[in-house]
Amino acid sequence: MMYSIKKSFMAVLAGSALLLAACGGGGGDTKSGESKDGQKSGDKKVLNVGTEATFIPFEFMEKGEVTGFDVDLLNAVAEEAGYEVKIENTGWDAMLAGLQGGQIDIGMAGITMTDERKKTYDFSKPYFESIGMIAFKEGADIKSAEDIKGKKIGVQNGTTGQFNAEEVVGENSPDISKYESAALMFQALQSDNVDVVVTDKAVAEAYKKKYPDSNIQTITDDKAFAIEHYGIAFQKGSELKAEFDQALDTILDNGKYAEIYKKWFDGAEPDIEALRKAAKE
Ligand code: ARG
Repeated sequence: MMYSIKKSFMAVLAGSALLLAACGGGGGDTKSGESKDGQKSGDKKVLNVGTEATFIPFEFMEKGEVTGFDVDLLNAVAEEAGYEVKIENTGWDAMLAGLQGGQIDIGMAGITMTDERKKTYDFSKPYFESIGMIAFKEGADIKSAEDIKGKKIGVQNGTTGQFNAEEVVGENSPDISKYESAALMFQALQSDNVDVVVTDKAVAEAYKKKYPDSNIQTITDDKAFAIEHYGIAFQKGSELKAEFDQALDTILDNGKYAEIYKKWFDGAEPDIEALRKAAKE
């Protein structure tokens, strides 16, 4: 009860902050929602972007700024498409609500393109491949997804981590605790409030690396968890989708994507062919 009241309050807060930001923008900002024609030659149109910035290495706060793979990628794609982006750490729920309500033009938060979400939002072509991962403290003896049964499970509310966990232990399982952000979920694991968390592969690995003293172990289970793809989220019917898809293609082709990928993934080469293939599916 408290939880949902607090959440909707937060959503309203975040929503009004965005509105204020949109009104007080001044300068050459073109307000979102206006016709996109005309304004593009001089000042670039500024798009409002929402995110949940505790999802390392995709988006996280550093010196008061949102940074990460998603941020670099979105900036590159937007620049290619001729837009400017203003990225705000709105939180997950407010991001999705803002997209639906029209205060937010773009959601960029390692968002998995699920069939359910495709009913409400439009997505770009896939820009990253992921799969569910279980993180736990050393000694918890987790070898497959089945082993989370009977454990205290932490997930980020409304994410595929939650859906993956529910597939294994049931939708209304009292063993699942839902947290508002990825950071709160990992904190719960570190402080032993939960035994395991179910999240995304690259993020579990990044937390494990960032907190070496927490003895975090990770496993995935490709029988239980499906391959996921992240997409840039737009309002349903948004004209931005076509423009951003084209810009993303350019960046995949010209080496910019690979450059950004290497920067955030220890110099690893991205599998661009796999992304292209997934775009056709
Ligand atoms: N990929 C997962 C999903 O879409 C988790 C995304 C969580 N993102 C975040 N910035 N916390 O459900």
